[in-house]
Amino acid sequence: MSRPKFVAGNWKMHGSLPANLSLLSAVKAKAAGLKAQIAVCVPYPYLAQAQSVLAGSNVAWGAQDLSEHAQGAYTGEVSGSMLHDFGCRYVIIGHSERRSYYGDTDAVVAAKYAAALKAGLTPILCVGETLAEREADITAQVVTRQLDAVIAASGVESLAKAVVAYEPVWAIGTGKTATPAQAQDVHALIRARVAAAGREVAAGLQILYGGSVKPGNAKELFGQPDIDGGLIGGASLVADDFIGICAAG
Ligand code: 13P
Repeated sequence: MSRPKFVAGNWKMHGSLPANLSLLSAVKAKAAGLKAQIAVCVPYPYLAQAQSVLAGSNVAWGAQDLSEHAQGAYTGEVSGSMLHDFGCRYVIIGHSERRSYYGDTDAVVAAKYAAALKAGLTPILCVGETLAEREADITAQVVTRQLDAVIAASGVESLAKAVVAYEPVWAIGTGKTATPAQAQDVHALIRARVAAAGREVAAGLQILYGGSVKPGNAKELFGQPDIDGGLIGGASLVADDFIGICAAG
């Protein structure tokens, strides 16, 4: 099955109204006509701005997290239906920064993933090992455990409506990109794990690579058989860099 390439930006906690306006406008203009599917995941307060600038373009938008709860007394949290109200198509779930700084355990990640689907959003489920885990040679166990938590809670069929992003924690924001072969190995492992439970779902699943992707390394990464695009941090904040990566898709 041939899978369309998908490039998603994760702005993390960056932006301001005037800076976003020029970045979103430039991305929108330069993305027109590109083959890859494209999205930007912005901080919550800027969703309305993303919606107003990007509506009707070929750039979708989304959020970087959501609550596992539908509504209620959860001060500071944002629900899936609220994201839906602002036209979000995507939401990042289980980013390593959420897992390591904000206590998003595998169980919490699985609950957020389920909440996203329930709200009609496409989860971008992040998995990936730390440097210590890679050095201890347990990358496969870690990634499998993170994936299995979601499959156990929502079923393998749910992955037909989701995207997976492999982000080795040691490659995020460090300038150290996984080699195309290192990334491909883990992507193949993820696809095989999903295939064991659902062959067709695995064949259609978009698996993105994230971690220091730049215009200069995107083409080789995206050329690997199981790499279907990228989840882009730093480079998504510079219109030409982000578009350069999208053009590699
Ligand atoms: P960088 O592209 O800045 O390494 O960040 C990757 C990432 O965490 C995207 O979610």
